[in-house]
Amino acid sequence: MSESVITQPAYTRSHPYLAAIAESRPLNSAGSAKDTRHIVVDIEGSGMIYHAGDSLGVCPRNPKDLVAEVLAAYSLDPAALVAGDGGVPVSLEKALTTIYTLNRASKKFIKALAEKAAPGSARDRIHQIASDEKELEDYIFTRDLVDIRTEFPETVWTPDEFVASLTKILPRLYSIASSPAQHPQQVHLTVAVLSYETHGRKKEGLASGYLASLDPSGEKTLPIFVQSTRHFHLPQDLSKNIIMVGPGTGIAPFRAFLQERKATGATGKNWLFFGDQRAATDFLYRDELEQYLAHGSLASLDTAFSRDQEHKIYVQHLMLQRGAELWRWLQKGAYFYVCGDAKRMARDVNQALIEIAVQHGGLAPEAAADYINTTLAKTEKRYLKDVY
Ligand SMILES: Cc1cc2nc3c(=O)[nH]c(=O)nc-3n(C[C@H](O)[C@H](O)[C@H](O)COP(=O)(O)OP(=O)(O)OC[C@H]3O[C@@H](n4cnc5c(N)ncnc54)[C@H](O)[C@@H]3O)c2cc1C
Ligand SMILES: NC(=O)c1ccc[n+]([C@@H]2O[C@H](COP(=O)([O-])OP(=O)(O)OC[C@H]3O[C@@H](n4cnc5c(N)ncnc54)[C@H](OP(=O)(O)O)[C@@H]3O)[C@@H](O)[C@H]2O)c1
Repeated sequence: MSESVITQPAYTRSHPYLAAIAESRPLNSAGSAKDTRHIVVDIEGSGMIYHAGDSLGVCPRNPKDLVAEVLAAYSLDPAALVAGDGGVPVSLEKALTTIYTLNRASKKFIKALAEKAAPGSARDRIHQIASDEKELEDYIFTRDLVDIRTEFPETVWTPDEFVASLTKILPRLYSIASSPAQHPQQVHLTVAVLSYETHGRKKEGLASGYLASLDPSGEKTLPIFVQSTRHFHLPQDLSKNIIMVGPGTGIAPFRAFLQERKATGATGKNWLFFGDQRAATDFLYRDELEQYLAHGSLASLDTAFSRDQEHKIYVQHLMLQRGAELWRWLQKGAYFYVCGDAKRMARDVNQALIEIAVQHGGLAPEAAADYINTTLAKTEKRYLKDVY
């Protein structure tokens, strides 16, 4: 290998880099129903590199309060030693902080609980839950380990039995919202903090809650790695036009794309569809986007604020309104990108694309679906998704 080749340190999910937070600020204004954060992660000195379109892997940790609640609820000694990663002994408190999921119970835990329950009504109840797949799923969807303890306070666990019944924390991915051309020493994220209340207790998503809890203190505590994308790339040909559909946190990679296109002097036009609940409180990165529009880096910005009127307006409704132009762009070789919610939004955007191919391309419905989902997506690789 030549001496000039710099190899990237292999930071992975099992060997993450410990990063500091450089900035954390809310993107929604007062009165919003949502809590979306702009988080800047400092990677200076790490040797990590990333590309627009990549995601950041985050290995989250449980909040101190929840760890303490679980230890107290199950009468477990925080200092007891249990097997940690690779079998190395660690305190139960550390294992519950960094290795095991506490904010959701798993089927595995319910099965272990069913085996432990003493004969009687509690045992009958937990066996009934464990034996019905649908009831089991509903049961664990809204309960964490503390909720379950309230319903089944009798069982006695050793520290080893307890951790053996838990599932391990898995890293979460976040689409990177910055371009390395503009921010080589930072990774920007757009994080929706998941919070809800069930069984009288407030709960937070494990990773989004963890990210939101971190201050820009300079301490290197956030375990991260870069997850390179295999397919979600900008066109190599800088003269190609791109269409981006990214409501909510789906905006993240498109902020990176816009920065990258500016930095690389791309001559192709950029068209963005963004949406969220209300313009007054949820227009994420409004100032930046309006500046891009004013300076021509964005040729078009179509916004769908779903709750600013009685009926819902979503990004796909605006795509349909502008179907003739969107179809012209596609016919001239534009790339089409979608990012955000997979279950509903991306499915509906796909349907809107098919409708546009019918209405403006004159294709029969089956041929339109084939054009969008096979020709555009698979053969020409011009319809690219980053959905979750
Ligand atoms: C490629 C990729 C890119 C992504 N990019 C982003 C991004 O840019 N920004 C972003 O914010 N996210 C992004 N995500 C999603 C992100 O990875 C996490 O899934 C998300 O932050 C939730 O994780 P969490 O650990 O906070 O929540 P978890 O602790 O995993 O909790 C989620 C679970 O909570 C439960 N739950 C949710 N609501 C309720 C409720 N009302 N009642 C009861 N239970 C409930 C559900 O079981 C749900 O599955 C991306 C995902 C992928 C795969
Ligand atoms: N529990 C909650 O209340 C809550 C709140 C926010 C986010 N979340 C979750 O947090 C995660 C990230 O959220 P996010 O900020 O990225 O955005 P999001 O919640 O997916 O919403 C972004 C925008 O998309 C709209 N939308 C909803 N269904 C749609 C569809 N079928 N087609 C097109 N647009 C649609 C939303 O409208 P409407 O919301 O008006 O329908 C909103 O205007 C998601 O997994 C979401 O489920 C939960």
